[in-house]
Formats: sequence, C-alpha cells, structure tokens
Amino acid sequence: MISAWADELAFATDVARQAGAILLDSYERVQRIDYKSKRDVVTDADYASERLIIRAIKERYPDDAILAEESGEHAGVLRDDGSGNGRTWVIDPLDGTVNYANGIPYYCVSIGLVVDDRPSVGVVLDPARDDLYSAAVDGPALLDGEPVTASAKQSLSDYVVSLAVIGRGGLARERRIAPQIRIHRRMGSAALALAYVANGRFDAFVQNGGLSPWDVAAAGLIAERAGAIVTDLTGGPWWDPRIVGPRANVVAAPAAQHDAVLQMLRAVKTSVQTRR
Ligand code: IPD
Ligand code: CA
Ligand code: CA
Repeated sequence: MISAWADELAFATDVARQAGAILLDSYERVQRIDYKSKRDVVTDADYASERLIIRAIKERYPDDAILAEESGEHAGVLRDDGSGNGRTWVIDPLDGTVNYANGIPYYCVSIGLVVDDRPSVGVVLDPARDDLYSAAVDGPALLDGEPVTASAKQSLSDYVVSLAVIGRGGLARERRIAPQIRIHRRMGSAALALAYVANGRFDAFVQNGGLSPWDVAAAGLIAERAGAIVTDLTGGPWWDPRIVGPRANVVAAPAAQHDAVLQMLRAVKTSVQTRR
C-alpha cells in the first residue's frame, strides 16, 4: 500500500539529509557557541540547518505552517476565516546540541509533520552513523527504508532504558529504578533516543518533562509505528498540541511492559517537570 504521505515522507527524508550534511560539515569545527541559558547552547550549525529546512518547506509547501526551535512559529497561508490548512512542520534542526558542540557524535535532525493536531510524518536522521529513521501515520517505522519493530524482550529486568528523570530528586529516583532494569542511559539527544525505541536499541524511553514539541513530534510517531506504546507520564496522549514551552513528557515502551514502566515511575513518585 502506498502511503497517503509518500510525498511528504520523501521530501522530509531529502531535506533531513541536506541538513545532516550541513551538520557533518561543521562537526568539530564549531565556530561559535551561544549560551541560551545555563544548560542550553546553540551553535551556528543549529541556525544553518534550520534555515535550510525552512527554506525548503517554504518552497515546496508554501501554505504550510512551521514550528522550529530557533525561529519559532511561521504561519502558513491563512484562509479568509483566518485558519490555516491544518498542517504544521515541527522541526528540531539539531537535537543534542551540547553533544555536537563538544564533539560527541550523538545528535540528530528531526523533522515532523503534524496534520490536524496529529503527528503524521516523522524523520530522524543521525548524520554520524547515517541512520535514517522514518514513519508515516499509515505505514511502518523504517530504518534506512527497512521496516523495524520495537523490542520483543520478555522481561523488564532485561531492559536498557533511555531514562531522564529530571527535576529535584531525579537522580535519586533513577537510582531507585535502576535495580529493576538492566541499565539506564542518558545520551543527550531525546529525539534520537526515542527513535531508538523503534528498533529496540533502547527497549524503552522515559523523560518526565523538559521536552518541547520539536523533540518528540517525529520520534514519537516513529516509535509508535514500530509497535511501541507512546504516552505521557499519566498514560495519556504523548502529543498535546496545546503544550507551550518545554513541558512535554514521554514514556515509550513495547505494549508488554508499558504499564510496568509507568508503574515503576509512579512507585518512586515521578512527577511532570516543566523546566529543562
Ligand atoms: C535537548 C536534548 C536533551 C533533552 C532536552 C532537549 P537540544 O534538545 O534532546 O537530550 O534532555 O530536553 O531540550 O537542546 O539539544 O535540541
Ligand atoms: Ca531538542
Ligand atoms: Ca535543538
């Protein structure tokens, strides 16, 4: 079956590759690092990647709206009643900037298309490994064009989990969770770690807040299409179009263990955090 989103998927794939080439080109040659806040940095590469992606979208889909990390909202063409066409591209031009700026090759480009408040297309490219994860809402999750599926491990105690319990007491909570799983990791690129759930490189992904729409729009869909259950910390929808600021939170895990993961987080009183 041909996806109704085949054009957008092919477009996002192509643009992610072009943006990835920009990132690779400047890798370990970062000219300038600006400190947006204590933890948050941005480099020239973030801006260059974002400019390329936005230019491409405006050229190919001029009616569509865009939400991009560095430049914010760009309205699409509005109808007479002031409404748009319901389509918004949600972009993180470089997820894992701290890694990137420090020469750690774990970062990605993330491009999602949300249609009528529903993530419908997602592409996550890891330029360092040339891994391209993608999915449309009506098709399978793919890694480099081949279908992938989430972890089939039987037992939570075997799980390798991307676990970021942020906020006060977060590390203590992680320590209490640790004995129940094989190991937990915090890699520094939420979008790439969440995409890893799609082929079981991570058995599960948890971050209890501090995420923005562009961190999760593409990777959440990719994990979901690979068969994982993706929710927020309460078990509700992971994608909430009303979320403003870094307060999205995601729990992604195969169906067999998703409840157990939520339960494990609840047992240590993990709550949603609204800061990064
Ligand atoms: C950040 C990374 C990080 C996550 C933060 C994100 P950035 O994105 O994904 O892993 O913990 O919540 O904001 O700033 O590198 O694009
Ligand atoms: Ca990000
Ligand atoms: Ca970013």
